[in-house]
Amino acid sequence: MTTIHLTVNNQPHTLTVPPMKRLLDLLREDLSLTGTKEACGEGECGACAILLDTGSGPELVNSCLIPALQADNATLTTIEGLAPDAALHPIQQSFLQAGGAQCGICTPGMILATHHLLTQHPNPTEAQIREGLSGNLCRCTGYMRIFESIRQAATETAR
Ligand code: FES
Ligand code: FES
Repeated sequence: MTTIHLTVNNQPHTLTVPPMKRLLDLLREDLSLTGTKEACGEGECGACAILLDTGSGPELVNSCLIPALQADNATLTTIEGLAPDAALHPIQQSFLQAGGAQCGICTPGMILATHHLLTQHPNPTEAQIREGLSGNLCRCTGYMRIFESIRQAATETAR
């Protein structure tokens, strides 16, 4: 067991966990942040994507591949951190309005990937949208509604 210190959604935590415990499991089991989903469990689908900042800025990572030890002294944002109050984040609102979510398994990762994309490219091109979401798979929507959700989110967040 190892003791790590991390900040998740602006809340500091000290946890004693197996060092190779997956960050995905730490979030879901130790912190009850079940908005982060597991689908493939192999780093292929982005359902478990979160934002991880180990000192050089937030990066979009697949939490099913990250050992807890790697999050020591890091700052994390999960889907719960985007909308800490009752109101939806504008990106969530756009996914709702444009039909970018169906079963919802991919949606938290899609929304965090969109947030990361819009931080880097507030007015993204089609190519930047496709590149920014290239690590996130969806089995339900066919992607067109997701891309429309991202376009709407870009318009909303630019206001
Ligand atoms: S569950 Fe982590 S990438 Fe698919
Ligand atoms: S909404 Fe079901 S996997 Fe994307």
